[in-house]
This record gives sequence, C-alpha cells and structure tokens, in this order.
Amino acid sequence: MSERIDRVAVVTGAARGLGQEFALALVAHGYAVAGLDVADQDETARRAGTDRFVPLTADVTDPDAVNAAIGKAAARFGGLHIVVNNAGVYPPIPFEDTTPEDWRRIMRLNLEGPFLVTRAALPHLRAAGWGRIVNIVSAVVFLGPPELVAYTASKAGLVGLTRALASEVGVDGITVNAIAPGLTRTATAAGSTGADGGFARVRALQAIPVTETPADLVSTLLYVCDEGSGFLTGQTINVDGGSARH
Ligand SMILES: NC(=O)c1ccc[n+]([C@@H]2O[C@H](COP(=O)([O-])OP(=O)(O)OC[C@H]3O[C@@H](n4cnc5c(N)ncnc54)[C@H](O)[C@@H]3O)[C@@H](O)[C@H]2O)c1
Repeated sequence: MSERIDRVAVVTGAARGLGQEFALALVAHGYAVAGLDVADQDETARRAGTDRFVPLTADVTDPDAVNAAIGKAAARFGGLHIVVNNAGVYPPIPFEDTTPEDWRRIMRLNLEGPFLVTRAALPHLRAAGWGRIVNIVSAVVFLGPPELVAYTASKAGLVGLTRALASEVGVDGITVNAIAPGLTRTATAAGSTGADGGFARVRALQAIPVTETPADLVSTLLYVCDEGSGFLTGQTINVDGGSARH
C-alpha cells in the first residue's frame, strides 16, 4: 500500500483505545492526522512524535465545536481527505433498564456524532475530489447480543448511514465504508466486560480463539483508505476473528 503524505485525516476519539491506534497507524504511514476528542490527547501526540499529528479538543455531539475543529484541521494541513468516525460508547444495559436518557446519549455519540463530523468535513472532501469516510461500527450489528440493544441500534444506524451516504457522494470520488470490530482489548472494553470474563466468552465464539487488539484492525483501515480502494464503497467489513460469518 502506498504512503500518502499529501492526504489529511481526521480521527475522532483519538485520545485512547482504537482511535489512538488508528491515528498512530495513519501517521506512521505518512498521513497528516487531526485527532478530535473531549479528552487530553497528550499521549497520542507524544507517541506520534511528529507535527503531522495535531490534537483538537471537540465534543463530536456539539455542532459548533465540530465545525470549528474541522475548519482548524483543514486550515492546519491545507485540506481534508479522510474521516474516521471512531468515538463511541458501549455501556451494557438490560433493555428494560435503559432510560430514554441512556438511549439518547448512546444515539447522540454513536450516530449523531458521525453525522455532524461527516457533514462538516464533506465540503473539504468534495473540494479535493477524493475522500474516504470510515465508520467504526461493531460486530454486534451481525450478532445482536443481549444488554446492548441501544448500542446495537446505534451502530446499525451507522451502517445505514454508510450505505446511503455512499450512494450520495460516490460521484465526487468519495467512498464510505464501515469497519466492524469484535470485542477488542481496550481499557474501556476491559472495564465494561468485568475482569477477563467477557474476553474469554467472546474468544470461545471466534474462529481465531485469541482476544482481538486494536492492532488487528489497522490493516483494514489502511486498506479502506488506500489510493487503490476507490471501488470499495457502501460496505461493512467485519474484523472480529470470525464470530460473525456472513
Ligand atoms: N473496544 C471494543 O471492544 C469495540 C468493539 C467494537 C466496536 N468498538 C467501537 O470502537 C470505538 C472505540 O472503542 P474503544 O474501545 O477504543 O473506546 P475508548 O473508550 O477506549 O475510546 C473512546 C474515545 O472517544 C472519546 N470520546 C468519548 N466521547 C466523546 C465525544 N463526545 N466527543 C469526542 N470524543 C469522545 C473518548 O475520550 C475516548 O478517547 C467505539 O465507537 C466503539 O463502539 C469497540
């Protein structure tokens, strides 16, 4: 795959977990990257070790903050080409205990956030006549596990956004795809699954019985963003060690 120092990416939720891994991988492959996060991105910036990574503080559910951050990213690097909608939450809550506030919070961050970020970024991608929009969903859209109904609905909504937007922007050389990780070892995932119990249960469902790590998702992200992947669009690529086989 080619290295593109002239391509600029925005990665949401780049302070830790998958987003940090994605931001660092893009930087390592020559992309310029703006991280958008509500949290401090010092660790990501230190590990990137280059001014091709710029941390921007923004809540992806706040339209004004998103517009300002996208404007800053494009101004800093002279354009924008790739959007990785990664920021998200996945609290396990039994369906009948899910309050309307829980439901709205999950929908706002996981579905409205990508809408706002993508809408703000699109004029820059259209201006470049080239773009890659990558939405991080989850294998739950295929598996439908219990206690994750709101989460699954939010990520299934993002799959719908992926498919429909792909039809709308393909004419401008922009692809829209989703990547669906399985349960992946991040601090948040470890905290919400309870000791190693969750990881062991999911490992037992996988064809490859090893706990997924953020690094296992990097090659798929680079493939989707690659110059040669312009004919890949509207797809949801499942990378979960084979729990869901579809
Ligand atoms: N880890 C897994 O097992 C797993 C599996 C499938 C899908 N995913 C998806 O991958 C993504 C990342 O998961 P993770 O485990 O790395 O999560 P994480 O909690 O480690 O990281 C999420 C990041 O998003 C940021 N964030 C939260 N709210 C924000 C907001 N309003 N605005 C901007 N940034 C915000 C956080 O500060 C954090 O840096 C999520 O969308 C998640 O649903 C994760």
